[in-house]
Amino acid sequence: MRVKIIAVLVGLAWLAGVATAQAPAGKPVANLAQVMRGILFPNSNILFDVQSSDPETFGKKEAGGGASASFSGIYTGWQVVENAALAIDESAQLITVPGRLCMNGRPVPVDRADWKKYVVELKAAAQKMYKAAQSKNREAASDATNDVAGACENCHIVYREPPNGGPRCTP
Ligand code: HEC
Repeated sequence: MRVKIIAVLVGLAWLAGVATAQAPAGKPVANLAQVMRGILFPNSNILFDVQSSDPETFGKKEAGGGASASFSGIYTGWQVVENAALAIDESAQLITVPGRLCMNGRPVPVDRADWKKYVVELKAAAQKMYKAAQSKNREAASDATNDVAGACENCHIVYREPPNGGPRCTP
């Protein structure tokens, strides 16, 4: 009996340890380029497609196996645009969180005033896009894609391709 109780207690302690280890400590796991490639790049490309394709056709059922084909056709039309706009809006938090590194090991310059301004512009563009998608206004949505592209570009010319040819993530 006592052995069992000890086993249970040890088990609980072990579980607590696991829980602590797995609790989100707020420490970023991906570098900045990975966040860009995984979240900003694919979602902004969905938004840019509004310029050339009718959003009503987005997310149509695809042929073939695999989860992405099987579950295509679930979120469709303008909702695809809404979701991509929300993902970009939420990504603003991911690129402002302290502790994330750029690919070259330099910290993401989250404390710099111009970085904060570029992030605010990205959020504003995403919100404009979201509103246009909600109202299913293709012209407004197309217009908002320019804001999104501009917001990416404004930050990139300073921090991704620094004009002085210096390392990324340093002004
Ligand atoms: C506030 C600044 C900022 C904004 C806004 C921003 N980026 Fe970036 N982006 C960067 C920096 C800095 C890097 C370099 C990251 C690194 O080297 O780790 C980068 C890298 C990237 C990369 C990876 C390039 C590579 O090396 O493979 C892609 C793709 C990208 N950004 C897409 C976007 C898109 C699309 C948007 C807009 C929706 C955007 N970014 C908005 C700063 C920004």
